[in-house]
Amino acid sequence: MGANLYFIGGGNMPSAIIEAVRRKAAAYPVDHIWVEEISRERAEYLAATYNTETASPTDAPDADIVVIAVRPQDDVAGVAASVARRFDPVKTTVISIVAGYTIAKLEQGLGHGWRVARIIPNTLTTVDYGYSGVALNGAAAREDVDAFLNTFGKVLYVEERLIDVITGFYPPNIVYHFIDAYVDAGVLAGLPRDAARAIALDTIIGGTEFLKQKDVLPQVLLNINNSPGGVGITEAYTLNKTGFAASIQSAVLAAVERTTALGGDAK
Ligand SMILES: NC(=O)c1ccc[n+]([C@@H]2O[C@H](COP(=O)([O-])OP(=O)(O)OC[C@H]3O[C@@H](n4cnc5c(N)ncnc54)[C@H](OP(=O)(O)O)[C@@H]3O)[C@@H](O)[C@H]2O)c1
Repeated sequence: MGANLYFIGGGNMPSAIIEAVRRKAAAYPVDHIWVEEISRERAEYLAATYNTETASPTDAPDADIVVIAVRPQDDVAGVAASVARRFDPVKTTVISIVAGYTIAKLEQGLGHGWRVARIIPNTLTTVDYGYSGVALNGAAAREDVDAFLNTFGKVLYVEERLIDVITGFYPPNIVYHFIDAYVDAGVLAGLPRDAARAIALDTIIGGTEFLKQKDVLPQVLLNINNSPGGVGITEAYTLNKTGFAASIQSAVLAAVERTTALGGDAK
């Protein structure tokens, strides 16, 4: 018998998760995936694309896992209260992917006795590179969520205070910004855009693979590459002078702060 999953909110992130669950059907069989979604068009798209079943806010099917996947600015507390009315805490574990929304707030909406996991996935789940940061409440155990979470990437159990940090740190956007700037740099220096893009992507994949194989920090390889008075150290000096590292660090810190603020504002 497979698992039964119920999603509330059928936007980009749950779609990526559902796509991964369907792809991993051999390792994690599911009998039902229900999606409760305000937009009828979106629900129809998911049903046609991933063979999901469209549910309504009065449905109460036999779900092992309910995933709350609305946005922080939506009525998350109302959704939690509705889950508490319709599902059975003995059978169902509640997983929230709402950025910034704390376990304490979820428990307020749900009431006592619920197994709750707060997770922060990212869209790299689609290519099996996504990391989900996961925090559990006192009632939940890893076995309640582990098999499901493993379908869409690696799983990192952390204290809840680190969930916002992972949200700011992990999303692939910062990598896309870097690639964008790197490709433009190639074009600025005279390379055709296609060539700059091809070199940039392979350099990033190759550089990452090399670091993993060597199992060292980048500084070790930079020390080898940056010979005295050479091209590498000139590039490093220029990056230092223009605040490259501080730009990335400031962006991540700002993203973490913004996540916390959005969760604080959420109903
Ligand atoms: N995208 C990511 O990479 C990512 C990563 C980690 C966490 N998250 C979190 O995941 C959650 C969903 O993100 P997303 O990117 O999937 O958002 P999204 O694409 O904007 O989708 C949200 C969907 O939820 C629907 N909705 C709102 N209230 C609802 C309700 N009460 N019942 C049923 N459906 C409802 C919305 O419908 P309407 O548009 O009609 O209101 C919309 O279709 C957010 O809390 C976000 O913080 C996202």
